[in-house]
Amino acid sequence: MARLKSFLVFLCSLAAASPKCITDVDSAKVELEEYISFTIPDINPRYRLHYHVMPPVGWMNDPNGFSFHKGEFHLFYQYYPYDSIWGPMHWGHASSYDLIHWNQLPTALLPGEEQCFSGSAVSVGETMTLIYTGHVVTDVEPFYNESQYLAFSDDGVYFHKYAGNPVLPAAPNGSPDFRDPKAWKYGNEWYVILGSKTLDQRGRVLLYKSKDLKDWEFLSVIGESQGDMGYMWECPDFFELDGKFVLLMSPQGMQPEGDRYKNTFQNGYIIGSFDYETYEFHPEVEFQEIDFGHDFYAAQTTEHNGKRYLVAWFSMWEVPHPEDVDGWSGAMTLVRELKLVGDKILMKPLDDMVQLRHHTIMDGRLLPNKVVNLPQATELIVDANMNQRVELFLQGVDGGGKVWIRWDPVVGKVAVDRGKGDVRQVEWSPNGQSTWRIFLDASSLELFCGEGEVVFSSRVYPLGGWKLTNLSRLSLKIQAYHLERSVPA
Ligand code: FRU
Repeated sequence: MARLKSFLVFLCSLAAASPKCITDVDSAKVELEEYISFTIPDINPRYRLHYHVMPPVGWMNDPNGFSFHKGEFHLFYQYYPYDSIWGPMHWGHASSYDLIHWNQLPTALLPGEEQCFSGSAVSVGETMTLIYTGHVVTDVEPFYNESQYLAFSDDGVYFHKYAGNPVLPAAPNGSPDFRDPKAWKYGNEWYVILGSKTLDQRGRVLLYKSKDLKDWEFLSVIGESQGDMGYMWECPDFFELDGKFVLLMSPQGMQPEGDRYKNTFQNGYIIGSFDYETYEFHPEVEFQEIDFGHDFYAAQTTEHNGKRYLVAWFSMWEVPHPEDVDGWSGAMTLVRELKLVGDKILMKPLDDMVQLRHHTIMDGRLLPNKVVNLPQATELIVDANMNQRVELFLQGVDGGGKVWIRWDPVVGKVAVDRGKGDVRQVEWSPNGQSTWRIFLDASSLELFCGEGEVVFSSRVYPLGGWKLTNLSRLSLKIQAYHLERSVPA
């Protein structure tokens, strides 16, 4: 909030000192921040999260520009402040020193001739550079085109767009779907990957390089659907993890196959090897979903001090968003740390999450059919004895959303079931310990199984706090902690 105020004071002082030097864009930024502050009191708090990044008001989708710059982590996001449904895209902005406590910063990008679609952020010396997709609506079929834009900031708060935009005008095959640049540096060059498609509607990821982020050379197609992996690959990311390369992306249009691919769109990864001489990526393990919950999309990663962190949009396209009647919609998942073990990525909560434990609510056994009431923001650690059937039932103290979490030793699957057939399930064989770590927030649930072999992120909308019932036949060993707030309300 302090930085938000100083940003406004900065813009207003510009206006006062020299009214001519404040641009229309600056005035629009001031008006927007005033609108946001003015609208916050109208938000219904019932589903507002306590330790997940959310839009202050309005709509949020993909994480953008997840990065570390001058001692701080930055997390931008697709943002439409004026309604709780998707609209012309802005970039919202939050920052953090530890990836757990987040500050809200002024909106970083406002749409101009272009809407500001997803992208990434890099540090070029002291300057923070954003590379994002400019989505321009046109009046000829297919009624839009997409190209890549830059914006810069010296203080990590106030951004101005590059006068030479767009820097990367079109896909090699002319596809209008050409978006979501993820940039990184290797040696002396910048690289960027982009989501796109073939002319016969198969998702693909394109690789480019540049010396200055402005002039780009097309290098290769590093991944492409052979027909069974959807019509468009959105929000790609590409990074080294424990000796392998990982292509992470969000394919649209994959068909459900049994337990797999049940969400509107998917988010997953291909492990392989990559050569900076030939620019070829050789897949070694086929596509796998990265999270098995109902609400997880457009994940992006960043690296700091040798650790790889991931965050995703904690929601999904084309599903109900019950918080939208309350004046907001969408959130970010908890940031997770990634490890590659064998042919799988494990995701675990950050070690420092224990800092949010305020006090212990329970540390003991919950007998069958017994109930314990929990606050909206609770961490649970459940000893899931793998030989027995385990079933937890969570519902709102005052009604609202319900969810069942089950382990079935006969089929070896964990399930997160929101009732009425809205189930996600997957096989789980623990690498080591078989505990469940469950993060409950006012409208969300994240279940980390074992060391993160299987993770579910699902939105659930209980009213009041949570009421937990042990529906297993045996008692369960449970620890429960009340968690503190770490994001603005
Ligand atoms: C993914 C996505 C991106 C696009 C953005 C628009 O959720 O469709 O491909 O840049 O959302 O908001």
